Amino acid sequence: MVDYSVHEQVAVFEVNNPPVNAFSHKVRVGLDRSIDKAIRDTNVKAIVICGKGRTFPAGADIREFDQPHKEPWLTGVFEKLEKTTKPVVAAIHGTCLGGGLECALFCHYRIAQKTARVGFPEVQIGILPGAAGTQRLPRLTGLRVAMDMITSGRHILAPEALKYGIIDEMFTGDVINAGIKFAKSVMNKPLEDRCLKNKTVKDADQADQIADEFMSLVKRKYKGFEAPIDCVKAVKASATLPYREGLKAEAMYMQKLVLSGQSAAQRYAFFSERAVSRWKIPGGNFQTAKPLPIKSTAVIGAGTMGTGIAVCLLNAGYQVYLLEQNQKFLENGVKTIRGIIEGSVRLGKTPMAVAQKAATLLKPTMKYEDLADVDLVIEAVYENLSLKREIFSKLDKLCKPTTLLCSNTSSLDINRIGTATKRGDKVAGMHFFAPAYYMRLLENIYSTETSPATVATIMDVGRKIGKVSVLVKSCQGFLANRMRGPLSVEAYFLLEEGSTPQEVDSVLENLGMPMGPLKTGDLSGLDIGYKIQTELAKSKGVELTADSKFLMGERISTLTRTMYDKGRLGRKTGKGWYRYEKPGGKLATPDEEVMELIKDHCMKAGIQRRNISTQEILERLVYSCINEGFKILEEGVAATPEDIDISWIYGFSWPKYLGGPMYYANKIGLDKIYQRICYYHENFPYSSHWIPSRLLQKLSENKVPMNQWCSGTDSKL
Ligand code: CAA
Repeated sequence: MVDYSVHEQVAVFEVNNPPVNAFSHKVRVGLDRSIDKAIRDTNVKAIVICGKGRTFPAGADIREFDQPHKEPWLTGVFEKLEKTTKPVVAAIHGTCLGGGLECALFCHYRIAQKTARVGFPEVQIGILPGAAGTQRLPRLTGLRVAMDMITSGRHILAPEALKYGIIDEMFTGDVINAGIKFAKSVMNKPLEDRCLKNKTVKDADQADQIADEFMSLVKRKYKGFEAPIDCVKAVKASATLPYREGLKAEAMYMQKLVLSGQSAAQRYAFFSERAVSRWKIPGGNFQTAKPLPIKSTAVIGAGTMGTGIAVCLLNAGYQVYLLEQNQKFLENGVKTIRGIIEGSVRLGKTPMAVAQKAATLLKPTMKYEDLADVDLVIEAVYENLSLKREIFSKLDKLCKPTTLLCSNTSSLDINRIGTATKRGDKVAGMHFFAPAYYMRLLENIYSTETSPATVATIMDVGRKIGKVSVLVKSCQGFLANRMRGPLSVEAYFLLEEGSTPQEVDSVLENLGMPMGPLKTGDLSGLDIGYKIQTELAKSKGVELTADSKFLMGERISTLTRTMYDKGRLGRKTGKGWYRYEKPGGKLATPDEEVMELIKDHCMKAGIQRRNISTQEILERLVYSCINEGFKILEEGVAATPEDIDISWIYGFSWPKYLGGPMYYANKIGLDKIYQRICYYHENFPYSSHWIPSRLLQKLSENKVPMNQWCSGTDSKL
C-alpha cells in the first residue's frame, strides 16, 4: 500500500492504493511503518511522499467512515512525520484533497505539478477536514482564504496554491525526480520554522469579523447544511485557541458531523453519483460498450432549451450546428448563446479562451443539408410527437449512417420517435433540465431498439459536458417528471381542500427544497398546466368546465383554469399563486385575492374546505412521489434507487443532506410510508398515484434493508 525506496539518501514513500490512493487503514499502517524505517535508516537524510499512478492521495477512505475506528488514525501518523528530524517533502500531482492535503500540511515542504489541484472537499460529504486541516491551513494562508476553501470545498490549481503559500514551488515533469531534487536541496536545513503547528494565524486579530462574515454567507448559500457552519467555527478556533486546543475543538465538531444524519446522506449521494454511471441495458453495459467518437453536433431549435444545450456542447469544445426555420429565430438564438457565454465569462465561470473557441465552433444554419455529416443531433423543438417524427424521418434520410439522433423530449416515448427512422438503434433521448447550461442532470433515455454503443456515447457526452447522466428506460414522463407528477397534482388538491399557497410551499421549503411547487408553477407559467390538462381532455373527447372534478375516472383539479381565466399566469403577468412586484418580478408575496378565487372555485365545485396539518401536506406531497418512485423501480424504468435520488438532487434541487427521496423514505421507514400510502389510497380512491406500489409493499412487509435493494453504494443506509 506504500512502496518504499531510497534514492541518493532520500527515502521515497509512494502511496499505492488505486484509484485515488485514499488513506485507507492499510495505507495508514504502511505509511506508519515507512516513517519508522526511514527514521531508523541513518543513510536516509530526507523523505518524499507522493502518490503512485494518477494522483497524490485524494483523502481519507470515505468507505471506512461507517466501519469501526482502527488505529493508527491519520493525525497520529502525520504527527510522526512532522516530528522527524529529516525534512519531509510532499511531491504533489493529480488531486491532493482532504486527508491528502492534511498530510501535505504536516510535511515540512510542499511542491506541486502545475496542473495539480488541492482542496478540502470534506464539506461536500457533510464533515470537515478533521485531521488538523482546519487548524493548519489558516496558519499558512490566513483565515479568509482558509474559510473560503474549507466552507466551499473548492479545489484550487497549483498556481493559486502557490500564491497563497500552500505550496512552496511548482515543478514540471516526473514527480519522484522533482521530489528527490527538492529534498536534496533542503537536507540539513533547520525544520523548526517549517512546522505549521509552531506558526500563528496572520489575521487572527480579525477573527470575529471574518467568522461573522462567513457565517452569514454559508447560512445563506448552503441553507440547511450543518457542516459549513461547523467549518466556520472550527477554522475560527485556529485563531482564538492555542494549536492543541484548536485540535480538540476540531475533533469535537468532526465527531458531531460524522455521526449526523446529514453526513451519512451526503456520503450516500457521493457514491450514488458515481454509481449511476455504471449503467446496464439488455445486450450491453458500461464495461462492454464503447462510446463512438463525437466531434461535430447539431441542435435543432434555437429556443430556451436548444440554446442552453448548444452552450453546454460549445463549452465542451464540440462543433455545433444550430438549426432554425427562420432567420429571426436563428439570430435570436445566436444572440442568446453569446449572452449566456459572455455572462459566464463575466462571472469568472468560463475562461475567456473557452468562450473564444466556442464562438468559432458555433455554426448557425437554416439548411438541414448542413447536418449531413454531424456525429450527433439533439432535437429540441416543442413537444409534439408528429413534428418530432417528421424531423427524425428527415434526418434519417439525410444524415450519414453513423449519426446518432437524439431528442430533448421531456416525456414523449422514444420508441415512437425511433420508428420514424430506419436506425432505431441510433435513436435515444437526451432530456436536459432548464436552464440546460446550469442544471446538472441529464436524463438519457433508451428505447427497446437503442443499442449499447448509442447509450455509451450519450453517457460519455453527458460526462464531457459536465452533467450527471442518469439512464432511464423510455416511458411516459421518464423518471424525473413522471415521479414529480403527483406532487403538483397534490398541491392543487391541498389548495382546494383548505391549505394556502404559503402553507403548501413552506413545507417543502422547510424540508430544504429551494422553492415549493406553487412558486415553481408561477416561475414556469400557469398556462402550461392549464394547456396540458385541456389538451389531454380533448384527446379523450372530454370538454372540461371550471367545476369538473374527474377526467376518465381520475380526480382532477381545474384550479389552474380558474387562474388562467383571471389572467394569473405566474411571474410573467406579475400574479399567479402569489403577487409579484411587477410582471417578470421575483419577489413572491401572499395575495388575498388568490384565496378569494380558491374559495369561490371550491364553493362552485362543492368542495368542503378544512384545516390541514403540516404533516399531512408533507406526506401528500412527498410520499405520493415516493410511491411513484417505487413503481418506476418496479417497472425497471430506473435501474436503482440511486438513479432516482440523483435525478432529484440534480434535476429538482432536492437537498443532498436528505440523500434523495428514496433514501429519505428508507430513513423514515418503508413500513410507515407504506401504511400512510394505503391510508391516502383509502381516502382518495380516485387518484391512481395513491395505488400502493407492489414493490414498496413487498419491501416493507419483508423489512428488506436498503443495501439489498440499491446497487450497493456501500454507505451505511
Ligand atoms: N474514498 C473512497 N473512495 C473514493 C474516494 C475516497 N476519498 N475518492 C474517490 N473514491 C472512489 C470513487 O467512489 C470511485 O469509485 P468507483 O470507481 O467504484 O465508482 C473511484 O474512487 C474514482 O473516483 P471518481 O470516479 O470520482 O474519479 P474522478 O477522477 O472523476 O475524481 C476525485 C477523482 C477528484 C479524487 C474524486 O473522486 C473526489 O472528489 N473524491 C473525493 C475526495 C474527498 O472527498 N476527499 C476527502 C475525503 S474525507 C477526508 O479526507 C477526511 C479527513 O479530513 C481526514
